[in-house]
Amino acid sequence: MKYFESHAHYDDRRFREDREELLKELLPASGVSHIINIGCDVKSSEMSVRMADKYDYIYAAVGVHPHELYDMSSQTIEKLRKLSEHKKVVAIGEIGLDYHYDTHPREYQRFWFIQQLRLAEETGLPVVIHSREASQDTFDIIERSKVRRGSIHCYSGSAEMAKDYVKMGFHIGVGGVVTFPNAKKLVEVVEAIPIESILIETDCPYLAPAPNRGKRNDSSNLKYVVEKIAEIKGLTPEKVAEITKKNAEDLFLK
Ligand code: NI
Repeated sequence: MKYFESHAHYDDRRFREDREELLKELLPASGVSHIINIGCDVKSSEMSVRMADKYDYIYAAVGVHPHELYDMSSQTIEKLRKLSEHKKVVAIGEIGLDYHYDTHPREYQRFWFIQQLRLAEETGLPVVIHSREASQDTFDIIERSKVRRGSIHCYSGSAEMAKDYVKMGFHIGVGGVVTFPNAKKLVEVVEAIPIESILIETDCPYLAPAPNRGKRNDSSNLKYVVEKIAEIKGLTPEKVAEITKKNAEDLFLK
C-alpha cells in the first residue's frame, strides 16, 4: 500500500536525532510515497523547502500558524511569496485561527489569516487551514475569500460544516484523532462526506493514533488512520489508501 502524508512537521526538533533515518529509509520502506511538510513560521517554511530539495518525495507548504504570528509584517508575506515560487512549494499553510490558546488577539489573528489567504489567491496555490475552537469565524473568512482549494487540516467541526466545505471545493484532513475512543464527531464527519474529499494526515510529531497514542507520531502510523476510515466507510484499507493518495495528488501536485 502507498500512503500520501498530507500534513507533517519533520522540521520539528523531536525528529532531530533520527530525521535522516526516517526520511531516507524507514518511511519509504513503510509505504509512504509522498509527504507534505508544513511550515508554521518563516524559519520552518524555509526548512520545509530545504527538505523538499533534498528528498524527491517531500513537498512543502509555507505559511505562518496562528500561534506563531510574533513579528508579522508585509515583509513576512513577501518572504512567503518568494518561497512560494519554488517548484516544490504546493500550498500556503498552515494558516488559520486558534481560539483555544489565543496566543495572539483574535482580531490580529483574523487580519493575518486574511492576508495569507490573499497570498494563496495571488499565487494560485491551495491552502492548509488550522482551526481550533474557531470553526465559524474560519468558515466565514474562507467563504468571503476567493480561495476554493485546500485542506481543512485536523478537522474538528460539525458534519454539516464539513459538507459545506466540500461543496465549496475543499478537502477534509483526517488524522489520528479518528482512532480515539471519543472521536464520535469526527466519525460522523467521515460518514457524511465522500471519500473523494478526504485527505489522510498525521500532523506528526503530534497526535499519534491508537495504539501509539501519546508517543511521538510519524507517517508510518498512517496505516491506523486508513484502517479506521476503511472501517467507517465499508471499504478496504487498500482502496482508502489509493483514493486518498489520488485526492492529494490532484489537489497538490497538478
Ligand atoms: Ni500541523
